[in-house]
Amino acid sequence: MTQASEPMIRINNVEKYFGDFHALKHINLEVPRGQVVVVLGPSGSGKSTLCRTINRLETIDEGTIEIDGHLLPEEGKDLAKLRADVGMVFQQFNLFPHLTIRDNVTLGPIKVRKSKKQEAVSRANELLDRVGIANQADKYPAQLSGGQQQRVAIARALAMEPKVMLFDEPTSALDPEMVGEVLDVMSELARSGMTMVVVTHEMGFASKVADRIIFMADGEIVEDSDPESFFANPQSSRAQDFLGKILPH
Ligand SMILES: Nc1ncnc2c1ncn2[C@@H]1O[C@H](COP(=O)(O)OP(=O)(O)OP(=O)(O)O)[C@@H](O)[C@H]1O
Ligand SMILES: [Mg+2]
Repeated sequence: MTQASEPMIRINNVEKYFGDFHALKHINLEVPRGQVVVVLGPSGSGKSTLCRTINRLETIDEGTIEIDGHLLPEEGKDLAKLRADVGMVFQQFNLFPHLTIRDNVTLGPIKVRKSKKQEAVSRANELLDRVGIANQADKYPAQLSGGQQQRVAIARALAMEPKVMLFDEPTSALDPEMVGEVLDVMSELARSGMTMVVVTHEMGFASKVADRIIFMADGEIVEDSDPESFFANPQSSRAQDFLGKILPH
C-alpha cells in the first residue's frame, strides 16, 4: 500500500552520464500529488533528460527514482506497468499513422492494461470529448491539424490512467494559433488534480498554471520556487540571464 502522504515522484541523488558527459548532477526532487511543476532552463540544461529518466526512457547511473512509493523497475513487466503509470507527451505527436484517432487511443489500454474493447472505446470517446475532438474519432492522424494531433496524444496518454503526466515541449512544434488549444487542455488537466511535470517555453502557462518552477542549468537544479518569486525575483545569475533573453523587453 502506498501512503497518500508519499510524494508522487521522488528523485533522490540522481546522476546521469552520456559517456564522459555529466548530464544530470545530483538531482533531488520531490513532487507531491497533484502538483504542477514547470521545468525551465536553457537548451542543453538537461530538461528532456530529466523527463526521460522519470519514465525510464533513459537509465540513471546513480540514485533512485520512485513513482507513488515504488522504485522504478529495471525491466520486464514491471517496467511496462510503470510506463503506463507515467504518461508522456512529446514535441512530436508520435501517433500511429495507420490507425484511426479512436484506435490510437484504445491501443494501449487494450494491449497493456488488458481492457475490454467496449470499455476502451467508450473511455476513448469520453477522453476525445474532453480534449475537444470527439467528432474526429474516425479520421487518421494526417487528416488533423497539429494542435488536434497533440490533443489526441494527450488523450492517448490519459487513456492509460496514468498517475503522472510528463510533457516535453508539447507546443514547440505547433503553429502559433494552435498553441492555445493545447495549453487549455493541459490547464484543465492541471485543475483536475493530475500530477504534472511540464517542460515548456510558454511563460504565460508557467506563471498561471504552475505551482512550482524548477530552473535547470548545466544538468543541475539551480532554482526551485513558486512562479511569482521566480519571475519577479530570480536568485541566480543563470536564471536572470535566461529570463532576460526569454521575456519581452
Ligand atoms: N543520447 C544522448 N547521448 C549523448 N548526449 C546526450 C544524449 N541526450 C542528451 N545529451 C546531452 O545532454 C545534455 C542535455 O540534453 P537535454 O536534451 O536533456 O537538454 P534540454 O534541456 O532538453 O535542451 P533543449 O531545450 O534544447 O531541449 C545536452 O548537452 C545533450 O547534448
Ligand atoms: Mg529538450
